[in-house]
Amino acid sequence: MKLSVHLGRLMLQNPIVLASGTCGYGREMQPYLNLNDFGAITVKGLSLLPCEGNPPPRIWEVRAGILNSIGLENKGVGRFLEEDLPFLENLSTRIFVNIWGRTVDEYVAVARELDKIARIDALELNLSCPNVEKGGASFVADLEELRKLVRGVRAATGKFLIAKLGPQVRDWEATVTLLEEEGIEALSVTNSFPALALDVERMSFIFALKTAGLSGPAIKPLALRMVYELVGITGLPIIGMGGITTADDALEFLLVGARAVGIGTANLVDPSSAMRILEGMQQYLMRKGITDIEEIIGRVR
Ligand SMILES: Cc1cc2nc3c(=O)[nH]c(=O)nc-3n(C[C@H](O)[C@H](O)[C@H](O)COP(=O)(O)O)c2cc1C
Repeated sequence: MKLSVHLGRLMLQNPIVLASGTCGYGREMQPYLNLNDFGAITVKGLSLLPCEGNPPPRIWEVRAGILNSIGLENKGVGRFLEEDLPFLENLSTRIFVNIWGRTVDEYVAVARELDKIARIDALELNLSCPNVEKGGASFVADLEELRKLVRGVRAATGKFLIAKLGPQVRDWEATVTLLEEEGIEALSVTNSFPALALDVERMSFIFALKTAGLSGPAIKPLALRMVYELVGITGLPIIGMGGITTADDALEFLLVGARAVGIGTANLVDPSSAMRILEGMQQYLMRKGITDIEEIIGRVR
């Protein structure tokens, strides 16, 4: 059975990608999974300097999902290269590094640092984080800023470039056209949805910043629709994600045209989820007598 998929010029041994922020810097998953069994692992979003993130609480469970307000906490690109890259270099799976910055220059600087590391297969730009120079608006909300950002990053690295989008996108067609023009090679869809939770006893918000990102099964039908519509407007390969917890969830994304799938919140519930999902997909293909997984990509349009 052939499970490998092409994501543009990048080949994945199978379509399962561990999503950023839910599998740490890789090593954290080692007791539960053989990372070499998957298409790719996506490292937690890195910025140039370490970032402390938001005050607690940072995770709040709701029906059918979680809200997170991690606030992009990370150790910074320097410590990542020193402490985690040696472990990752021994893996055979693809390594994607999710990156972000408070300014265009910061994105470019992170990309430039990571460009030097041959073992890193792709950079995934988290485009949903607030732009400090523009007073907190996310980069995807301002197309002029977005063009500057992607152009700058593209000039700084020859690596495979993925743009990670979320529901903050205002004009999908204009955004995707811009990303194509500026050399983005794939899309990850979707990031979490801005959402709210209250503590009724204390009559207060749960999170210090009030809103937080909703992920998990609650968002799956929304994410699936986003991917379905995007496949209709772009030729860029898409990594579909949002609420995938079972093999059937993952198959739905492939059937509407995603070429790979990201497993996020499910890793936090059961860190061996990705293996269960991969095995379930293989069983489905066997049951259907399908020998090449590419045959089901985009089958339901
Ligand atoms: C705790 C947590 C941390 C996350 N950190 C990042 C991050 O650093 N960068 C990013 O682009 N997405 C991040 N995400 C978003 C996930 O990668 C994924 O896009 C989203 O959660 C939807 O998928 P899911 O429903 O399978 O979790 C994070 C999600 C969670 C739950």
